[in-house]
Amino acid sequence: MAVKFYQSENQVPLEMHKVRVVQKLTLLPVEQRLKCIQEAGNNTFLLQNKDIYMDMLTDSGVNAMSDKQTAAMHIADDSYAGSETFNRYKAAVKEVFGTDYLLPAHQGRACENILAEAFVKPGKVAIMNFHFTTTKAHITRCGGEVLELVAKKGLLPQSDDPFKGDFDLEELKKTIEAYGPENVAFVRVESGTNLIGGQPVSLENMLAVADICHNYGVLSVLDASLLQDNVYFMKTREAQCKYMTTKQIYHLLADKMDIIYFSARKLGFARGGGITSHNGALIKSMMEYIPLYEGFLTYGGIDVRTIESITEGLYESLDMDYISHGPEFIAYLVKELDDYGVPMIKPAGGLGAHLNCSEIVPNLPHNQYPAAAVGAALYIAGGIRGMERGTVSEQREPDGTERYAELELLRLALPRRVFTLSQVKYCADRVKWMWDNRELIGGLQWVEEPKVLRFFFGRMKEIGHWQEDLVCKFREDFGDSL
Ligand code: F0G
Repeated sequence: MAVKFYQSENQVPLEMHKVRVVQKLTLLPVEQRLKCIQEAGNNTFLLQNKDIYMDMLTDSGVNAMSDKQTAAMHIADDSYAGSETFNRYKAAVKEVFGTDYLLPAHQGRACENILAEAFVKPGKVAIMNFHFTTTKAHITRCGGEVLELVAKKGLLPQSDDPFKGDFDLEELKKTIEAYGPENVAFVRVESGTNLIGGQPVSLENMLAVADICHNYGVLSVLDASLLQDNVYFMKTREAQCKYMTTKQIYHLLADKMDIIYFSARKLGFARGGGITSHNGALIKSMMEYIPLYEGFLTYGGIDVRTIESITEGLYESLDMDYISHGPEFIAYLVKELDDYGVPMIKPAGGLGAHLNCSEIVPNLPHNQYPAAAVGAALYIAGGIRGMERGTVSEQREPDGTERYAELELLRLALPRRVFTLSQVKYCADRVKWMWDNRELIGGLQWVEEPKVLRFFFGRMKEIGHWQEDLVCKFREDFGDSL
């Protein structure tokens, strides 16, 4: 905590920025919230933003940009090829990562598509601490298989381990040997491991993974989408990083990893993405896919104004005042909820707060989708939109059987610099009400189940009438309040 309060009992995270543009919000009455979630097929992705009070779906592309980021958009050099804007983007990447080569792509999954096209072939495996939805979808689409080697501690919902995203290094060596290095497309380290609760990977572990890859001659890839939070945790939780600058950490990683890619919707609080490396030959092997799928090499499907905002955002990702805000607000929310007794993923990570739905509704089996049910209940309770990160977010096995998620989570992402602390407190209060009324929450069943990425557009309905009962209880407890 950078700023200490005189009266420690009043200590809260203190913003090192001020808000100068605001957007009006509405909170619909609970009866309308019920109607909206049912019309959305109990899928929070299908809600309309106008019907939402706190949008905690994601921190992707919805963070508040800085004054400098929006100002930079005015100097964009709008040319199809050879844009000065791209040269500025390259210079920012060089400053942050120290790398000379950059391929622009329109967002993180576009980078994943290119990596998969270039390196994944049928029969190859891609090894990672944990998969991300789009990463896995691209790898399996190209005929590859995803193997996850997060250390066992990563899957314990409650722990005080500071780096739950770490790889199991012994398993990594054994797995590379078992499959043969030539059959490993790449090893991917996901910083700020998304699907297990935004949990960081230590610098020591990342560097060890890179060394193992190097020894076996296997490509190492760093997904740096959530690296900002991860660097904050390295600096605050890992002794060897305490006196390193953020820039030293980014550079050290880039020196060791063969390829780094990122979603600039997260890293740098903008939109867009990129792939960077010290290795020109590797970049060349992916280059042809950029004009094919994205756009010319100096814009990669990203609007030039947006590229300017990424550029400024990347410089700002070195600034602890900026990158500490998310983790500190998240820690505050997790602590409030934990004090209320709500089962959470602990310790607090980056990205957002994660409710452990298996413990909130322990009687709901995986195939009644507990995390989606809790997500629908929270929208009814408070107009708060979270994201299901449980069995609905998994893909069925090739034979059609359900793949049950290791963790049934409802993620409450914290878009950076968007919500005030009073809104965070409101969120905690409505979660507490939902927790106290958890026995009313029932299951969901499919109405329409798409084959691919079903969590985006699938529709479900309640089993029984529990949602109407929840609304009645809300009226009993809150009277005519919104
Ligand atoms: N890698 C990680 C770790 C991510 O969290 C994401 C996106 C991507 C890759 C893909 O990037 O969205 O720009 O295509 N995560 C978003 C989220 C979608 O809500 O967590 P993208």
